[in-house]
Amino acid sequence: MSAPLIVLVGPMGVGKSTVGELLADRLGTTYRDTDADVVAAAGKSIAEIFFDEGEERFRSLERRAVRDAVAEHPGVLALGGGAVLDGTTRGLLAGHRVVYLSMDVDEAVRRVGLNTARPLLAVNPRRQWRELMDARRHLYEDVAGVTVATDERTPEEVAQAVLDAT
Ligand code: S3P
Repeated sequence: MSAPLIVLVGPMGVGKSTVGELLADRLGTTYRDTDADVVAAAGKSIAEIFFDEGEERFRSLERRAVRDAVAEHPGVLALGGGAVLDGTTRGLLAGHRVVYLSMDVDEAVRRVGLNTARPLLAVNPRRQWRELMDARRHLYEDVAGVTVATDERTPEEVAQAVLDAT
């Protein structure tokens, strides 16, 4: 069992996987993300889990994936955007180097607004994004030691800012 070097949290589309892979390369370690773990455990895509079995089932698979990854993964770890909704996540992350990648609404709608693979934003991306961030912003800030804004930065610049800040 070993602890992650860096845990990335933040909303969908903010670039956790792209930045996470870059960080893992820079640190000579491996990248893991809990969405991929959930997909592997369920044997179907996230959209299929939501539509076939509901969000609650997805959250329960995600809770397990977060617990296992935080306990086992020694490299860079990214959590699904909603993982902070679970009350257990905060305790699991205590003492880890956690970075919140943030972005503003316009950037979010540009990046994920029309992506139907993300079931939480399928109807009215701008309104849904605002509601989602109003509900979650403080949760990201609570679990993370630092916040790195991604607006108008390339993934390489964001990765560098994460390294500078941790
Ligand atoms: C979700 C974010 C997604 C994925 C699922 C739900 C959310 O992860 O876990 O669609 O609730 O914000 P990414 O942040 O990796 O896209």
